[in-house]
Amino acid sequence: MITLPLGFTQGKEYAELEWPIDLAIAVVWLAYSINFFMTMMRRKTSHIYVSNWFFLGMMVMITYLHVVNSLAIPVSLFKSYSVFSGVQDAMIQWWWGHNAVGFYLTAGFLGIMYYFIPKQANRPIFSYRLSVIHFWALMFGYVWLGAHHLQYTALPDWTGSLAAAVSLAMIIPSWGGAINGMMTLSGAWDKLRTDYVLRFLIMSLAFYAMSTFEGPVMSVKTVNALSHYTDWTIGHVHSGALGWVAMVAAGALYHMVERLWNTRMYSAKLVNTHFWMATIGTVIYITAMWVSGIMQGLMWRDYDAFGALTYTFAESVAAMHPYYVMRAIGGMVYWAGGAVMLYNVVMTIRTASARRGVSVATANA
Ligand code: HEM
Ligand code: HEM
Repeated sequence: MITLPLGFTQGKEYAELEWPIDLAIAVVWLAYSINFFMTMMRRKTSHIYVSNWFFLGMMVMITYLHVVNSLAIPVSLFKSYSVFSGVQDAMIQWWWGHNAVGFYLTAGFLGIMYYFIPKQANRPIFSYRLSVIHFWALMFGYVWLGAHHLQYTALPDWTGSLAAAVSLAMIIPSWGGAINGMMTLSGAWDKLRTDYVLRFLIMSLAFYAMSTFEGPVMSVKTVNALSHYTDWTIGHVHSGALGWVAMVAAGALYHMVERLWNTRMYSAKLVNTHFWMATIGTVIYITAMWVSGIMQGLMWRDYDAFGALTYTFAESVAAMHPYYVMRAIGGMVYWAGGAVMLYNVVMTIRTASARRGVSVATANA
């Protein structure tokens, strides 16, 4: 946060930090992995639950991707040059970039999903076998997809086609996983009526399914020719980021607060309010970006009868104004939902602690 505004950057998307900080990040992931791995080694059961497989996959792959993509030759304390150049650099960069999404924002949060949905619903996962297939298919599939970020660039054409083909195939394990989580409620759907924490977890899966359908569609060359560089990508990012990642995290957080302080949330109504604010905020955000993204794409490729561009770039920016207002509203609604959660969590902890204080005092008396 300090070095980037000072201008120290490797100039790589999602991997800007200079080499000393890259080394520190590698140490963090290694320490995390070793600690996790050693804990697993000392387990008392032979079985390893699928959540832990997903966490392990995340740790191994993020450490590996981060180290390879950051390989650089330092020339001073805050300046280095990547060991890769040109097309290879782009390829490695997006092999890292896509897998930061695949192994961190997806595998890491799937680990959370596989643990917290059965816990919150108080039922076993719908199909353990399906979760294992989900795991291995994601691990093998994701690493092939990076080139779908580089369609129509200097990369060999076939790399983009291969990435698009594997991306399309990824719909199957992704939807398998989403259905597995949702079907855990099979025969007990009524729980959704009263359990607002469960609503977060299940809705996050709906967004996971949506963004993992949208992503493969966007990776197809003809669709990417329209969507690339536009707000459509931003819409896709946030249906994953807000709808899936942040909502599953909120559900897990509510569950943990109740367990850690051995209490119920201060206000179940506020959990429900947060749920609706998060859902509506995300929907407003992503719909605004779909409309603006497709509009941008269409305006940029529009020609008049003389073969000249119909619109200047500035005109396309001006046309985005209403959608950016809409995005701001959606974002604020989402953010305000987060503030509601913060208030609810603080009040839950305060009342639980006060109650404990009273019971300790009674015991002492
Ligand atoms: C099977 C699953 C997925 C596939 C095949 C996929 C595919 C894609 C494609 C084709 C793009 C646009 C590339 C471009 O034109 O530059 C993209 C962008 C992106 N996706 Fe996905 N996506 C998937 C799931 C997800 C999920 C679940 C998330 C978030 C949790 C996510 C986060 C992102 C991000 C952050 C970008 C923007 C990268 C940038 O800065 O350019 N994706 N994805
Ligand atoms: C209230 C919540 C949020 C709001 C209002 C918000 C808003 C934004 C905005 C305005 C951008 C710039 C888009 C542009 O270039 O036009 C952006 C980019 C991005 N955001 Fe968010 N964001 C939120 C939460 C999140 C969360 C929770 C995540 C991750 C889990 C996330 C991940 C990203 C990523 C990866 C990008 C870069 C996308 C790209 O350039 O391709 N955002 N966000």
